[in-house]
Amino acid sequence: MTNDKKNNHAKLILPEGKIVTLPIIEGTIGPKVLDISSLYKEVGMFTFDPGFTSTGSCRSKITYIDGDKGILLHRGYNIEYLASEKSFLETAYLLLYGNLPDEKNKSEFVNAITTHTMLNEQISNFYKGFRDNAHPMAILCGVVGAMSAFYHDSTNINNKEERRIASYRLIAKMPTIAAMAYKFSIGQPFVYPNNKLKYSENFLNMLFSVPAEEYEFNQVFSDALDKILILHADHEQNASTSTVRLAGSSGANPFACISAGIASLWGPSHGGANEAVIRMLHKIDDVKHIKKYIDKAKDKEDPFRLMGFGHRVYKNYDPRAKVLQKIAEDVLKQEHKLENKLFDLAKELESIALNDEYFVEKKLYPNVDFYSGIILKAMGIPISLFTVIFAVARTVGWISHWNEMVEDKKNKIGRPRQLYIGEKPRN
Ligand code: CMC
Repeated sequence: MTNDKKNNHAKLILPEGKIVTLPIIEGTIGPKVLDISSLYKEVGMFTFDPGFTSTGSCRSKITYIDGDKGILLHRGYNIEYLASEKSFLETAYLLLYGNLPDEKNKSEFVNAITTHTMLNEQISNFYKGFRDNAHPMAILCGVVGAMSAFYHDSTNINNKEERRIASYRLIAKMPTIAAMAYKFSIGQPFVYPNNKLKYSENFLNMLFSVPAEEYEFNQVFSDALDKILILHADHEQNASTSTVRLAGSSGANPFACISAGIASLWGPSHGGANEAVIRMLHKIDDVKHIKKYIDKAKDKEDPFRLMGFGHRVYKNYDPRAKVLQKIAEDVLKQEHKLENKLFDLAKELESIALNDEYFVEKKLYPNVDFYSGIILKAMGIPISLFTVIFAVARTVGWISHWNEMVEDKKNKIGRPRQLYIGEKPRN
């Protein structure tokens, strides 16, 4: 994979004249990488890169992003192709195993996931310990972490079969855990999974059906949810995936690691942005107020940022946002007047921002969170569940990265250094 050609190196000249030779390594695609792993040993200095803006933390075969061109590939397949031709579970198989499943593998995988959807019944007792106004992300963090107290037969990270079972359990049970968090918050009875239904249909059924009535499926909604899950399934070394890897690098069990990932995803700079976009659109309320909010976003003294805009890696249109804009159109054809107003407002905001010098110069484009909330809202999903839906999808990426890391013989415990700026020794 990597190409350590003898003459492929860079020279670093230190102030006292010492020259350090650093290898330049190459992946299959993407920019070359300067290997500084021996720097501290050789010269007693380490690098300083808060926010890891210039730091590659691992080798990975799962996802590739070209941020300048706006390209996202999973295992070499374009995200647009996966979202239009494949199901979420096929994408999950691809991320986990490296190839799309053939018919036999697909049916075995779908069957295995479908038959792991139920939760140990005792877990439902946890929910009663939360306050009824608890944010569902808080519940998700707690309940997923607590899975390690129940599924002891899949916490030995050195056993391949236990790793497989833990991965399947997480992918299968996340919608059940998420739907129970929602049902608890609205005071309705939990709905058990129904293995006759497809993954996204089952999720919607657990969210919206009640024992007193049959839930009427809307095919457009369950297709849209499946695509939303595909679009959120993985995104290489983002904050939450890096959190999962860092937690896992110490040998922690997979349930604890995914719980750490959920906590990281929750923040408004990451997965919490989909919720923040809707709150922002409600605040803007009308096209005539857009300019005021654009000015606020540009004002360095004002902490306000245009939510759903900007990305660490994409300096072009996020390809996922483009697919989501199209899905939003399909879902909103079903006459959701309130969300249509929000969608029109979002499109106008996008067009004004994309023509504004500040956003053009800083290459700030809509990201995945800009349109996803409008679709979820139109489907009747409450705002507080938006980041939970993101977490359900991203579990597939997290667990694929966790497996890759555990299987990598070069894996070391993650242990960054610091630039100490505190007190010198004192009495
Ligand atoms: N509104 C206004 N200004 C912005 C925005 C924005 N949304 N995003 C970045 N900027 C400015 C920022 O102030 C900075 O300006 P300057 O160079 O003058 O200091 C410049 O653009 C670069 O921004 P940065 O904060 O240094 O970039 P970053 O890579 O550290 O942050 C980001 C990326 C996504 C956290 C940021 O763009 C942001 O806060 N966006 C809004 C929140 C959001 O939509 N998050 C979802 C991210 S995508 C999905 C996910 O990861 O979950």
